[in-house]
Amino acid sequence: MAEAFDIGARAKARCDLMGAAPYSEAEGMLVRRFLTPAHKAALDTLKFWMEEAGLAARIDAAGNLVGRYEGAAPGAPALLIGSHIDSVRNGGRYDGALGVTLGIDVVEVLNRAGRRLPFAVEVVAFGDEEGSRFPASMTCSRAVAGTVDVQVMEMVDGDGVSLAEAFAAFGLDPTRLEEAARKPGEVLAFLEAHIEQGPVLEAEDLALGVVTAIAAQKRLMVRIEGVAGHAGTTPMALRKDPGPAAAEAMLALERICRGGCDGLVGTVGRMTALPGAFNVIPGAVEFSMDIRAEVEATRDAAAEAITAEIEAIAARRGLSASVTLMQALAASPCDPGLTALLEAAVAETGQPPRRLPSGAGHDAMVIADLCPTAMLFIRCEGGISHNPREAVTEADCALAARAMLAFVERLAASNSLQRSA
Ligand code: GLV
Ligand code: MN
Ligand code: MN
Repeated sequence: MAEAFDIGARAKARCDLMGAAPYSEAEGMLVRRFLTPAHKAALDTLKFWMEEAGLAARIDAAGNLVGRYEGAAPGAPALLIGSHIDSVRNGGRYDGALGVTLGIDVVEVLNRAGRRLPFAVEVVAFGDEEGSRFPASMTCSRAVAGTVDVQVMEMVDGDGVSLAEAFAAFGLDPTRLEEAARKPGEVLAFLEAHIEQGPVLEAEDLALGVVTAIAAQKRLMVRIEGVAGHAGTTPMALRKDPGPAAAEAMLALERICRGGCDGLVGTVGRMTALPGAFNVIPGAVEFSMDIRAEVEATRDAAAEAITAEIEAIAARRGLSASVTLMQALAASPCDPGLTALLEAAVAETGQPPRRLPSGAGHDAMVIADLCPTAMLFIRCEGGISHNPREAVTEADCALAARAMLAFVERLAASNSLQRSA
């Protein structure tokens, strides 16, 4: 098939371009949160690239950018290809964005060759996978899957701006969020390409991996309350200080997860002492807990165990504690049929098709409620992610794009077979 650009390498270069202002909110680091001017700048540029590639692009009711490349017959169900365009604070350039720019490369190759498939291909840039602005994540893919609860509009960010207000400021109507939902008949399947964000592929000298399932996750917020006081005048024995209680809770979470199975992991990624001053014993400490495991029961048992420990720690220290569930995402197996197609597609690139699970969350786990999903992993240097040191090679990106194209052709072949059967 004719290619007049460096497939894959161009997708990587586009992520590099979007790694700085105006595609980042901050100087000297990448932070691109949902519904910010940096997000808008990324959507404008991606829309331009999509149109250049032959996709008809629109922003949907949830703020996702959706580009459509029609199939042989207009209006056919679509294969969705995509990932997210938001980032964590001081994140890497490829987490999410690479899955979108690779999708554009794939369609551009098809379009340049005049290749129309038995299905449409839509490239999607989801707006909020990370949840780095509002407390819950994957709002945009849940809107597409039709599983979002309109109550999410009440969530507030760190500046007290509600999701509804952020929607309105971005030019979106918060009352129409549910209109982003796709009907099951409109969507054939979802393919997400993503950096591995772990060290397995690199350790085995492999460029690509095929994901079997995505781990279950829970997000919880903990608040331990004591009594604020003067740091100089209150003797240690007479304090009601939630700080050391929070430290004990963190150690308990580490102990519980280290002793667990099924890939159990627990993280305190955010902690705030209130009011937050050198010379004030905090009146309250708030911290997040992210708990994941391949098996939901293992994740849930860990969440229950740490909740009981936090209550016991607080009681022993004369404090009060609350643990609030912010979000629970079920474990999501990838579709066996599509996964087999993707394995064959990877093998076509000359790479052994290594299967592996994903500890990271992805839009695919939410889109699985709408249609069958498959996920392709791309090796990243040192397995490092959620870090500006995230790195991929052009050669691996080119292999990924070729595997995606091979997957599309294999799906087309199996789709035609199904239709003629
Ligand atoms: C997203 O990167 C997540 O796994 O939370
Ligand atoms: Mn991420
Ligand atoms: Mn991601």
